[in-house]
Amino acid sequence: MRMYDIIMKKRNGGELSREEIDYFIKGYTKGEIPDYQVSALMMAIYFRKMTEAETLALTMAMAHSGDFLDLSGIHGVKVDKHSTGGVGDKTSLALTPMVAACGIPVAKMSGRGLGHTGGTIDKLESFPGFTTALTTEQFIENVNSIGIAIMGQTADLAPADKKLYALRDVTATVDNLSLIASSIMSKKLAAGADAIVLDVKTGSGAFMKQECDARALAEEMVKIGKNAGRKTVAVISDMDQPLGFAVGNALEVKEAIETLKGNGPKDFVELCLTLGSQMLVAGGKAKDSEEAKKALDAVIADGSALKKLAEFVAAQGGDVDVVYHPEKLPRATIICPVPAPSSGYLSHIVCDEVGICSLILGGGRETKESEIDLSVGLVLCKKVGDYVAAGEPLAKIYANDERKAAEAKKRYLAACTITDKAPEQSPFIKGIIC
Ligand code: URA
Repeated sequence: MRMYDIIMKKRNGGELSREEIDYFIKGYTKGEIPDYQVSALMMAIYFRKMTEAETLALTMAMAHSGDFLDLSGIHGVKVDKHSTGGVGDKTSLALTPMVAACGIPVAKMSGRGLGHTGGTIDKLESFPGFTTALTTEQFIENVNSIGIAIMGQTADLAPADKKLYALRDVTATVDNLSLIASSIMSKKLAAGADAIVLDVKTGSGAFMKQECDARALAEEMVKIGKNAGRKTVAVISDMDQPLGFAVGNALEVKEAIETLKGNGPKDFVELCLTLGSQMLVAGGKAKDSEEAKKALDAVIADGSALKKLAEFVAAQGGDVDVVYHPEKLPRATIICPVPAPSSGYLSHIVCDEVGICSLILGGGRETKESEIDLSVGLVLCKKVGDYVAAGEPLAKIYANDERKAAEAKKRYLAACTITDKAPEQSPFIKGIIC
């Protein structure tokens, strides 16, 4: 078999066999097939797409490219959660301590930023000293002792996805149904949870811009999960504007902490309660969503979710003081408002552009080797549907470089539409697939 023939077959619209998919995944994982050939194949897949059979074969090949985690040493039903990625998506930071505080063991593997979206691991590194480089033994030990651990993808766990994820991030080949489904499901299957709750985003800040595509992605992932014998549920949620107000690593951590203190933004709280209730029901801690939501509300009200975050940060080497004093998080030196050019209703925000503003400021990677600036980003002052007077800030930019701040400001303004008429509001949660 030759990689050249596989690229050509896909480029010409052919269907790859399981053997061809296994060949390129094995070769790429071992370092025998170079990045440039795999980039070409990713681009061919991007344009030609994959069939359901190819997507399943790719998922299984990537899941089996390394070890499967054995979580049998963790007591109780292990429930994992994964987002397809969005702007201002700090859900795991607040949701995992909430769920853990309700008694569900959280053993989660998370990723770094991808394309215009941020990643949980980068955000968590805003806590000075925090590490996600845990051994499997430490990971299991932490879940058993405090109920929660989050680790980065190790070299042994779905290594093919780890390499492909970093490659797709810098080759404009992220937003393809089969590549997203196989990336997420391969690592979720390898990470060993009993139940998987997926947060599938749709809208201008998501990889799936159209709701019908997000639904198809959700259905595909639920099918793959069930085929593999895991209880799998997908929630389809809005990403047509940033989630909450904060976009950028440390800024999002601060918003997640505020949420655990009961001061969270409305859309973000709704998402945490919806996903959390699916996790509690899947884990057998609640009989239905009503009961689950009450339990989740209670752990915020009595402070136990915030305490769980503090235990989690301490167990992974982070500075706990920052949980109680978020003003100690990395801070940008420049804060500048983006004034509205006219009065009216903010009727639309091109959401992926907001993610790109954060990238421009230094909050994401331009190349696989880029270092990120944890302190930069944006905080929205107005959300879609809000009235704004001319000159009032639409958002505030947090930067460490005047030139980058000016560029982000220009881009943010161009991403916003202000109209005389208030826009129609659509539901935030678009559906649940199970
Ligand atoms: N999250 C992932 O883990 N992979 C993708 O391809 C997209 C979002």
